[in-house]
Amino acid sequence: MNKTFREVHCGGSTKFRVRGCSNDRFYPRYHLAPPFGWMNDPNGFSEYKNEFHLFYQFNPNSSHEPGIAHWGHAKSRDLFHWEHLPIAMYPDKWYDKSGVFSGSAIVENDKMFLFYTGNVNFPGQIPDHEQIQAGAVSFDGVSVKKFKNNPIINETKLQPNFRDPKVWKHKSTYYMVCGNSFKDIESNTDLGRAILFTSKDMINWNFASVLDESDGSLGYMWECPDFFELDGRFVLLFSPQGIKPFGNKYRNLYQTGYIVGDFDYNTNVFTPRTEFIELDHGHDYYATQTLLDKLKRRILVAWLDMWEQSYPERRDGWTGQMTIPRVLSLSKDNRLIQKPVKEITLARGRHLYSGRAYFGTVVTLVDKAGEISIRAPKDKDLRLIIESDGELGKVIISYDYKKGLVTLNRGGKDGIRRTKWRPQKKLYLKIYIDASSIELFYGDGEITFSSRFFPEGAVKLRVGEKSEIESMEVYTMKRTTFVNHDCDETA
Ligand code: FRU
Repeated sequence: MNKTFREVHCGGSTKFRVRGCSNDRFYPRYHLAPPFGWMNDPNGFSEYKNEFHLFYQFNPNSSHEPGIAHWGHAKSRDLFHWEHLPIAMYPDKWYDKSGVFSGSAIVENDKMFLFYTGNVNFPGQIPDHEQIQAGAVSFDGVSVKKFKNNPIINETKLQPNFRDPKVWKHKSTYYMVCGNSFKDIESNTDLGRAILFTSKDMINWNFASVLDESDGSLGYMWECPDFFELDGRFVLLFSPQGIKPFGNKYRNLYQTGYIVGDFDYNTNVFTPRTEFIELDHGHDYYATQTLLDKLKRRILVAWLDMWEQSYPERRDGWTGQMTIPRVLSLSKDNRLIQKPVKEITLARGRHLYSGRAYFGTVVTLVDKAGEISIRAPKDKDLRLIIESDGELGKVIISYDYKKGLVTLNRGGKDGIRRTKWRPQKKLYLKIYIDASSIELFYGDGEITFSSRFFPEGAVKLRVGEKSEIESMEVYTMKRTTFVNHDCDETA
């Protein structure tokens, strides 16, 4: 076990001093993960001078716990080849001393503005859980200066949960949506909500409205809200805490989902058209953030992990990763559709398999990373077994055509996730496997599952009984996020 500091190069010229060892058995080949330490929520997802920037909640001191959050930082031209950059923000002010919590970015006149939550205190400290909103600016997309006027919003009435500002500009006004909880007097319980502020200068903010709030069925706190126009309607996307499991729904510790509606910029009133709809059906999908890029695509990234897990990668000096970036669209019946961005083809490696596949067909991914595209009849069952050595390294994917049910089973306690779904004409399925993750896109993104699993050695994809696949294409995926893991011991 090596507990000394060592320097690693993580692409570009940035060097990090890393404590402990790293080992890349589970380190993603083409998903963004921290060079070391702990990663949670995506933050500050933006496009600056033709490069995508993705910041994230980062603990450089340990891969075992979130600790006191910093903002980690990476950039990419294509959303797959990432270069790690120096830590963007440290918890070095009185107003963020317990964490530089989640937030967002906007780019204007070659300047990048970052908005985040200063976690002044944790629960139990005095004053309890005090959170403020703060701003920062970067003139070069690398070094970041916090605003002199911070905190920009400091509201006693909105404590103790007041965080995760997502900022955008409409005409000449800046808008900020934040997650918050409030005490419902009648039931004496905390309920989650999303609140809106406006500003003309990014420094002085005024409370504008409550976009929506829990009626008791949608939890006690809404984390990481995002709000945007899509295909002529508005989407309020957020990660509520405290929703109880209901049948196949809401099986994870916390959820991510959305409400579609209409929004009036004159009155700041949001009028829902739908109920809350869970966005992903896997085990590990949380704290989403979107970006409207220069091509006018609404691109989403989520944390491909979940709170209170203890996945084995932690012992390798790093933990947490992001999902494949996905382009969002809205169906006529107000469902969010998620498709992998087209740049994913840049991460493709060798073409391994093409043609029909039946019970017994096996394809091996030696480096555990692959893309599998399937077309199958809509009136036949489908069963695919993805296996490897290692207790946590198996996933079974199935479609039960009689019940109209798709299932992902990663085994172990609470391993099953499923949802109702029927293909329209054919069953289309895309599967992305990486060294410790699997993402499923059914029917071109109508239904997704995002889960972690931990294959050891090569990954085998085996077609199960009763399955008849009309067409299967398999590509290996390349290593696009380079981190110099030069130690084979585990910390
Ligand atoms: C969501 C979250 C945010 C908070 C951040 C702290 O996962 O709890 O609400 O800002 O993580 O790391």
